[in-house]
Amino acid sequence: MLHNIERILEEVRRFSADSREEIEQFRIKYLGKKGVISGLFNEFRHVPAAEKKITGQKINALKQSVSDRIDALLEQVASEASADIATDLTLPGPPLQLGSRHPISIIRNQIIEIFSRIGFTISEGPEIEDDWHVFTALNFPPEHPAKDMQDTFFIDKDPDILLRTQTSSVQVRVMENQPPPIRTISPGRVFRNEAVSARAHCIFHQVEGLYIDEHVSFADLKQTLLYFAFEMFGTEIGTRLRPSYFPFTEPSAEMDVRCQLCGGKGCNVCKYTGWLEILGCGMVDPHVLEFSGIDPEKYTGYAFGMGIERVAMLKYQVRDLRLYFENDIRFLEQFRSAY
Ligand code: DAH
Repeated sequence: MLHNIERILEEVRRFSADSREEIEQFRIKYLGKKGVISGLFNEFRHVPAAEKKITGQKINALKQSVSDRIDALLEQVASEASADIATDLTLPGPPLQLGSRHPISIIRNQIIEIFSRIGFTISEGPEIEDDWHVFTALNFPPEHPAKDMQDTFFIDKDPDILLRTQTSSVQVRVMENQPPPIRTISPGRVFRNEAVSARAHCIFHQVEGLYIDEHVSFADLKQTLLYFAFEMFGTEIGTRLRPSYFPFTEPSAEMDVRCQLCGGKGCNVCKYTGWLEILGCGMVDPHVLEFSGIDPEKYTGYAFGMGIERVAMLKYQVRDLRLYFENDIRFLEQFRSAY
């Protein structure tokens, strides 16, 4: 009889089923009233007393194995059924995880949106430029230090070709190609031969602004920049214009906003002044208009150029420029925005 039980156990182990019906048949065959197990219990009466204990244990173990096998098979059939549902092509797909925009793109789009609202168009120019558009037509004298190899990436073969160091080059391209009135902004990447650190990078982003028409005044410039600062940072932000110098504007100024990292109290980012510079600006120098074929007697204009990383730093309190370029997903996925 023990031998018989072993054989049945083997049968049970080998049994497999694809449907609930087959499993039910299996259950009836082994556990049913007239099934194999109850047959074994009937035979048990005739087992010699000495073998009763071990035989009883074996039959009970066999019964348990049959129940376990049934449970396992039912589970298997159920999970196969749900796998079938997963491949049902008529069901809606699993939701896609949305990516997030790069913080520099978010701020650039926001700047574009703010200026488009007051009639600025968008223009672009090449990143690989020539000396004329980056320097000479912007009134840089030939010996100007910005042209130094330390600051500008030149191309070995041709000293006239360089990576633009400022989006101001697009001003020249626009003025050469279109008569006033001009009201445009030019977002783009710029390159400088700088050692990479928390505060400086060899690649960064600027947005250039240019407005040329009759009777454009410094008051127009000031009001436009104030509008921008309020839209970008809110009307509570403090701003100030400081006199400055650029070869292509006269007079020139720089605009500071209250440091958002310390609330204006002073910190290492704002060098304990409470202010951070966000842009350079000024009235377009008459020479620059003339270089691009615009009559400086008839037209005046203003220009400005701001650093997108700087604006992003103030908005998001990101102090290290390198984070913008490392593509670390843990950094990037923190930025969710409508822009
Ligand atoms: N191009 C300047 C820079 O890279 C910024 C700038 C200053 C742009 C004055 C302008 C401007 O258009 O009028 O630092």
